[in-house]
Amino acid sequence: MSKRILIVTGSPRVGGNSDRLAEAFAKGALEAGHTVETFAAGRANISPCHACDMCFSKGMPCVFNDDFNEKLVPMLRNADVIALVSPLYWYDISAQLKLAIDKLKAFSGHEALPIKESVLMMCGAVSEEERFSGAVEVYRQITRGSLKWQDRGVVLAPSCPQKGDIEKSPALEKAYKLGLSL
Ligand SMILES: Cc1cc2nc3c(=O)[nH]c(=O)nc-3n(C[C@H](O)[C@H](O)[C@H](O)COP(=O)(O)O)c2cc1C
Repeated sequence: MSKRILIVTGSPRVGGNSDRLAEAFAKGALEAGHTVETFAAGRANISPCHACDMCFSKGMPCVFNDDFNEKLVPMLRNADVIALVSPLYWYDISAQLKLAIDKLKAFSGHEALPIKESVLMMCGAVSEEERFSGAVEVYRQITRGSLKWQDRGVVLAPSCPQKGDIEKSPALEKAYKLGLSL
């Protein structure tokens, strides 16, 4: 069955390691017959959640209109699978990606999104996968605990301090195979 896959990337660096992970994943997903859309949260204009409890009060999910409402929300409403892709920033997902995730709160109690499955892909400078554990745990709590997305896999790319380092990492092949497996 063909799935609608939304990739949300979290790096400001164009063509960087997380963009390459996203591309490899997308290649596999397209080969498997799925459709793919990508939103670069790391380069988007998304304001932080203000916790104003005004979600949907003006018709839009967030009353502060930015790329979340304008660009990401239509993609969220059209996705079966979400792929979160981020550089490791201070042992967590990037703040840019987190801004987008925070605003998902607008949908709680207002509208059910069609997303049922998720994956996480991350790259970082450190050489040990264990040091991604904080970010992975955040992902697990978000998906399992709150949004009820079924986790379909986590790909970690350690030892990638510089742009392009990912080309030598087995993570690119893992990302491709994960896309293919959905
Ligand atoms: C603000 C900032 C914080 C970072 N924090 C970490 C970190 O905590 N651990 C780590 O291993 N790498 C850290 N890095 C390195 C990036 O995770 C690494 O260079 C990654 O491959 C960048 O991915 P990108 O090319 O998609 O931007 C940090 C980089 C930046 C710019």
